[in-house]
Amino acid sequence: MRKPFIGGNWKMNTDSAGAVDLAKGLTQKCDSMLDRVDVAVCPPFVYLAAVREALGSSAIGLGAQDMYFEPKGAFTGEISCQMLKDVGCSYVIIGHSERRHVIGETDELLNKKLIAAIDAGLLPIFCVGELLEQRKAEKTGQVVKEQIEKGMAGISVEKAKTITIAYEPVWAIGTGVNATPGQAQEVHLMIRQLLASMYNDSFAEQLRIQYGGSANAANAAELMAQADVDGLLVGGASLKVNDFAVIVEAAAKAKSQV
Ligand code: 13P
Repeated sequence: MRKPFIGGNWKMNTDSAGAVDLAKGLTQKCDSMLDRVDVAVCPPFVYLAAVREALGSSAIGLGAQDMYFEPKGAFTGEISCQMLKDVGCSYVIIGHSERRHVIGETDELLNKKLIAAIDAGLLPIFCVGELLEQRKAEKTGQVVKEQIEKGMAGISVEKAKTITIAYEPVWAIGTGVNATPGQAQEVHLMIRQLLASMYNDSFAEQLRIQYGGSANAANAAELMAQADVDGLLVGGASLKVNDFAVIVEAAAKAKSQV
């Protein structure tokens, strides 16, 4: 049985006081549910240390939104896995659509980042998802397959066990138009079958697949009710304590009824 996993991707939002308040609010609302659901928050780099402190003894995990694959050196502006661990991160988002499509990160670069994150002992949340024109052209399966095959190339089954995959259709991110539960389930199942063929059945059965893209307090329960939706990666709604807490509760309830 896969434990549900809710991630909050704060993107380039909050300020130092707001980030601390949000983290403290979440500990109050979510801590009692953490036996049933894993929760992580991913603030901007500059607030990681402050959020770590604000989380205190809570089991809410801390994640970064990106990292660079080299351990140290002359890479101006970049942040290494070791630095992330040093400030208390357990998770790192890799290949978010905004990094793929706004910043221009390639499958090859993301493969290097995934390998480096795993080797450093971070738990990657590896994002995949198609553009609107790719969905309209019925290329969703092909695009997601290629992103996973290239991104996870050369990663052994033992190492791949630390990965969470986040399926985030680009057309659903920040638009208010979420994938329907049926659309999410269809792609999640396809991803699980792909992983079974790349690795093996038991690996595919235990790997968690989050859905992301306009997930919110109102639609979390129906998304989480899908058999292969193991969690949500939440953007906008993760910036509001009450909304995020409702999402965490929906995840805990959805899977405890199974
Ligand atoms: P929204 O929830 O704001 O659509 O963002 C989703 C996302 O990109 C999470 O990584």
